[in-house]
Amino acid sequence: MNNMSCKCTSYTKGSWSTRRACFQIWRKVEVAFWTVELEQVGCDGRITLILFSCLTFVLKGIWLTDLAKIVPPTVELHGCDMTSAKYPAQELLPPNIHMHVESVLSLPEKWTNHFDLIHQRFLVGALRRDKWPVALSELFRTLKPGGSVQLVENLYTCTVESGPIKRHFEIFDKVFAAHGLVREIAIELPQFLQEAGYVDITWEEKIVPTGNAKEWGPLAGMAAASHMRVFRDTGKLVVAGGFVGSQEEYDEITDGVEREWAEKGEHLPCRIICARKPL
Ligand SMILES: C[S@@+](CC[C@H](N)C(=O)[O-])C[C@H]1O[C@@H](n2cnc3c(N)ncnc32)[C@H](O)[C@@H]1O
Repeated sequence: MNNMSCKCTSYTKGSWSTRRACFQIWRKVEVAFWTVELEQVGCDGRITLILFSCLTFVLKGIWLTDLAKIVPPTVELHGCDMTSAKYPAQELLPPNIHMHVESVLSLPEKWTNHFDLIHQRFLVGALRRDKWPVALSELFRTLKPGGSVQLVENLYTCTVESGPIKRHFEIFDKVFAAHGLVREIAIELPQFLQEAGYVDITWEEKIVPTGNAKEWGPLAGMAAASHMRVFRDTGKLVVAGGFVGSQEEYDEITDGVEREWAEKGEHLPCRIICARKPL
């Protein structure tokens, strides 16, 4: 593919401190990108930045509120999700944060050429494969010429796909296929970005330590807990869709994943993909 570059970093064999550092590096990659981008566009009050699918970030005070602390108050920060169910009350947010309820598949006309930076994260389970090009062209339209997009997506591939997680992924592959979703969509995104007209496409892969909190620290524990929540929350739908024999069977598999991750841990790859709308 032209006009693309890739860097992969794996910490699977690293020491505990290396693994813990991986989290910080991973976060730094995102923050470094934002900082450079913000510097490039001048941070002079004309910047508008939007985060897509931002429920969790805002709820936990990550990203938008973190970012509001490190950029001048003249920088406009926007958060967007298709539901406001978990948005904090506007009065709890600084005045330069604005929340919106919109679908990334159909953004307001008035946002055309509007944003300097767009960050979108973890829509792997939300957008069907055929909807990704639609989403990426909406982001393209709403970016200013020269503006940048940053996509962050898990790959949901384990270093060792065996035991309960293998069974779990088999079930989820069926669920994903039935809904037109792709568990490793992150691999296809650079190509989709190129087809949508973006340039300067780069990506990095980070291996995120997940589980084994005793050895790998609380962040690894939190990463596992967040995936387990998704696995538990989706259980009823998976059973109702007939993708597994019964709720008991699903719970048994999910319990097995939880135990395995708590004891041994897993390394889940995540891709950070950046691109620019041409001037
Ligand atoms: C897995 S959550 C990720 C939340 C958050 N980005 C994070 O990192 O914790 C997926 C989010 O995508 C949102 N979503 C799903 N389809 C969407 C769409 N078409 N447009 C905007 N947001 C969407 C859901 O409402 C949900 O909040």
